[in-house]
Amino acid sequence: TVLIVDFGSQVTQLIARRIREAGVYSEIVPFQSAAEGFRRLSPKAVILSGSPASVTDTDAPTAPMEILEAGVPVLGICYGQQTMCAQLGGNIEGGLHREFGRSFMEVKKASPLFEGIWAEGTRHQVWMSHGDRVTALPEGFEIIGQSSGAPFAAIADEARRFYGVQFHPEVVHTPDGARLLSNFVHRIAGLSGDWTMAAFREQAVEEIRAKVGDGKVICGLSGGVDSSVAAVLIHEAIGDQLTCIFVDHGLLRMNEADEVVAMFRDHYNIPLVHVQAQDTFIDALEGEMDPEVKRKTIGRLFIETFEAEAKKIGGADFLAQGTLYPDVIESVSFTGGPSVTIKSHHNVGGLPERMNMQLVEPLRELFKDEVRLLGHELGLPAHFVGRQPFPGPGLAIRCPGGVTREKLDILRQADAIYLDEIRKAGLYDAIWQAFAVLLPVQTVGVMGDGRTYEFVCALRAVTSVDGMTADFYHYDMDFLGNTATRIINEVRGINRVVYDVTSKPPGTIEWE
Ligand code: XMP
Repeated sequence: TVLIVDFGSQVTQLIARRIREAGVYSEIVPFQSAAEGFRRLSPKAVILSGSPASVTDTDAPTAPMEILEAGVPVLGICYGQQTMCAQLGGNIEGGLHREFGRSFMEVKKASPLFEGIWAEGTRHQVWMSHGDRVTALPEGFEIIGQSSGAPFAAIADEARRFYGVQFHPEVVHTPDGARLLSNFVHRIAGLSGDWTMAAFREQAVEEIRAKVGDGKVICGLSGGVDSSVAAVLIHEAIGDQLTCIFVDHGLLRMNEADEVVAMFRDHYNIPLVHVQAQDTFIDALEGEMDPEVKRKTIGRLFIETFEAEAKKIGGADFLAQGTLYPDVIESVSFTGGPSVTIKSHHNVGGLPERMNMQLVEPLRELFKDEVRLLGHELGLPAHFVGRQPFPGPGLAIRCPGGVTREKLDILRQADAIYLDEIRKAGLYDAIWQAFAVLLPVQTVGVMGDGRTYEFVCALRAVTSVDGMTADFYHYDMDFLGNTATRIINEVRGINRVVYDVTSKPPGTIEWE
């Protein structure tokens, strides 16, 4: 085990992820309970994370001295490096040398940390994000790397196996960072690297059993990958103590509801309540133009419907959710604070507080692609696990200017044709998300010598790593032309197709 002491950096989970990728099990503990975590886990190595705090603050968080005195290898990253130095007798200077973004570090001395990656005298790109820096080293340390802004960019006390880096090896902008972390856990700490998703599965099952005991759990299925993987995992742990509730809001894509119901009921034999709430949602949305009101209406109705169904089956002690790590970060910025609400996401928050149930969130530490791996591990069909993300409010936010049954129907057909063409062209996996949007605009056309006056359909496709930023997908023009022709020929109600070439920012992926 590797213990990761979290000092509140935005990217601590990325450290854990890199360690998992190196095939080693890790646990993150907040700095306040680091000593306890250290005793409980007896880790073979410790990583100290970055932090928004400054070591020069009066109440600056520190690492427990017992960790630094236990003889285990320690890697301090950014703030972690600084607090380690300060605690061992070095000096930190605040404020003056802010450095953010790409930087280059020169390797001053060979080290097991750099073995097989960086040779002495070479320069490499690293990612910096810090306001303070180390200015005097504790005894036993030496400089192994320097950048122009950080004379102590990488330091080591090889005898004690203490390492500190001012840059962030866990982010992709430090291209060799993952290998450096792998050196730390394999070469320096001697960990074997045989941990896999299979081990995660076993461990998660144990933890769910321990937490739930003989309690009852309900899980809201959305039809997406995350809640499905969570449900299958939880079912493996506790069997029919789990009931899934699938609120069908009528805003799903073609055949989607049937697929979900078939998979859960017939294939996995998981108790499933299929709530046919289409009318409730669509009646409430009819005529509503404002995107935020639409989102909030859907969110509120979802909670009410879910709650009513949960009551019907006699309630439950636990609520299971497929919350992923990025949802945890995003929902923080989506629920007030100084950051601005761009869109109200309805699938995080709200429900647990109202229903007075404890949460079971077995995917809370994972990233999307890791959830997909876990899905494979659990035997979910590949085409299902590989599905592109789909928003909770569904097709409602792809019908700008108001939802009607008729428009949803038109949109569903166009979307199905578009996705079919994408699959046939072998492009599905290269695209983060692709979908059709039905515009509230009618234009004039001519078909078979007759005048038409029908809706415009916009096609959207983006590439992205995490949904936070995105570029439009650069299709071949023939692909677009053929797809447009098919949509116009096959869908009554659409006589014109356009392609959206906006990136994010300044656009968002969805239109509302
Ligand atoms: P935007 O449109 O904000 O979308 O660029 C970023 C990603 O989030 C998805 N999205 C949602 N997902 N509930 C969700 O589960 C929502 O309310 C929601 N709104 C947007 C969107 O599809 C994209 O993947």
